Amino acid sequence: MMRPMKLAGSELMFGEGCLEYIKTSVHCKKAFIVIGGHAVEENGSLAKVEGYFHDGGAETFVFRGVEPDPHFSTVRRGAQSMLEQKPDMICALGGGSVMDAAKTMWVMYERPELKELDQILHTKPLPKLREKARFICIPTTSGTASEVSRSVVVTDDEKGRKHGIGDMEMMPDIAICDPDVTKSMPQHVTAETGMDALTHAVEALVSNRANYVADILATAAAKDIVKWLPRAYENGDDIQAREMMCDASMTAGLAFTNVSLGIDHSMAQTIGGFFPIAHGRICAILLPYTIDWNSRSDYAKERYSKLAAEMGASYGLAQLVRDLNTRLGIPDTVKGAGIDEGVYMANLQEMAETSLHDGCTKTNPVIPTVSEFAELLKKAYYGA
Ligand SMILES: [Fe+2]
Repeated sequence: MMRPMKLAGSELMFGEGCLEYIKTSVHCKKAFIVIGGHAVEENGSLAKVEGYFHDGGAETFVFRGVEPDPHFSTVRRGAQSMLEQKPDMICALGGGSVMDAAKTMWVMYERPELKELDQILHTKPLPKLREKARFICIPTTSGTASEVSRSVVVTDDEKGRKHGIGDMEMMPDIAICDPDVTKSMPQHVTAETGMDALTHAVEALVSNRANYVADILATAAAKDIVKWLPRAYENGDDIQAREMMCDASMTAGLAFTNVSLGIDHSMAQTIGGFFPIAHGRICAILLPYTIDWNSRSDYAKERYSKLAAEMGASYGLAQLVRDLNTRLGIPDTVKGAGIDEGVYMANLQEMAETSLHDGCTKTNPVIPTVSEFAELLKKAYYGA
């Protein structure tokens, strides 16, 4: 039976200059702003966001230092700080890691009885949030779509393992997708996060939970990403390309948060748990291999072919992705990304088993066996 669709929280803002919405329409007394590194301070985005909150009559507090692949210890620190500051609005200003960390801090702020990551992982569904604060996401990258998703990925830094948590309660109330905020994204981050967004769209399209509305969103997002990502990559100041990537990434997010993903994400999340590689980079490398593998399903094959044909690629979707990766400076194999061969092969069996048990596997059009996962992981390492 179809699950109910939820397309973002209560307010979804997009387009150049929409950040000003904070000043005119976001009403709160104290905003707790979560950021990662110094980029949003250096490029003026933080000052702009704080200024708009102040103009609207709110106080602000800034929590700094969320690292890539956010650690649970950082989440715990942030939640403690929220308990001291008592904000009525949480605002994540950053990429996927910042948004994911802030969402998890919010859960612990609302529900201080959830003290450990294991408790959060095993509380299904999550209790009601929003008794203390509402939640805004302002993405500074165009890829993860955490601003419209119910999911987070948090790393247990004591055990060195990444965990995904998904619950509609964590859907941000307000998403503000202003391309101005993404303009200073470095070139390789533009490429990697953009390919993460393309992977979301392609996987949502062949998910075994796919539906009419999600198909429309995923197809439109995929087409726009293929068209506009090279332009955003080649010229970061091209505001039209930045805006299209902001919108397309968010649109892919609206699709996948409802119909889920597939084995590209199962393997990407697994490899990312074993080796330090950017999520979008590994998603991009794996994508042609997963398209080829999934094409044993007539359902998936037909959908890939239709999408490729609509984009004018008579040579097929996998080749289109290979060409796009090359243009964006992304290697065509896991080996090419510099991951050590001996360590990768020594962990192949464990990675295959972890991929099989990843939550994204169950919505793939065909479910691989452990040995098929191992074979696929090996193929992606060396190339076809
Ligand atoms: Fe992703």
